[in-house]
Amino acid sequence: MAEQFLIDTKDKSAAYSALLDVYKSVIDGEDNEIARLSTLISLLTSTFGELFFWCGFYMVDETKNNELVVGPYQGTMGCLRIPFTKGVCGKCAREAKIQIVDDVHAIADHIACDSRSNSEIVVPIFKNGKLHAVLDIDSTEFAAFDEIDAHGLEELVKIIYA
Ligand code: SME
Repeated sequence: MAEQFLIDTKDKSAAYSALLDVYKSVIDGEDNEIARLSTLISLLTSTFGELFFWCGFYMVDETKNNELVVGPYQGTMGCLRIPFTKGVCGKCAREAKIQIVDDVHAIADHIACDSRSNSEIVVPIFKNGKLHAVLDIDSTEFAAFDEIDAHGLEELVKIIYA
């Protein structure tokens, strides 16, 4: 089997743009949700490596009132459920707005699934205009995420349900 592509992450914007091209072509014609979600997590973690200590989805559980349930992810075991009232993921779900946290220990209600996480980015994902999931990425580095990640990740999650 041929070696898989390698994306250089020295230039983060270029890396996200290359990832977008790869992701688009890989999911083209595949309408299975789990396939589309788990493939994005694989692409992100294989590209950014250890910087992305935990990378995965929390899905809105339509059978509950304002609660997220864990979806496809890579990393150490995550919390299975997060109410909209709790943590950075909950805030992202409540406000339907991207969250960047440089130091998660400074956030009073941060949910520490693994105490090695030091910073975090959470991106809301919409399906038919409605909040459907969030993408949560945690890093052991402080301040690992910035506006370039925010933009790159927003572009990637936009195509999951396009
Ligand atoms: N850090 C998140 C919880 C999810 S895990 O870290 C995988 C939060 O505070 O929302």
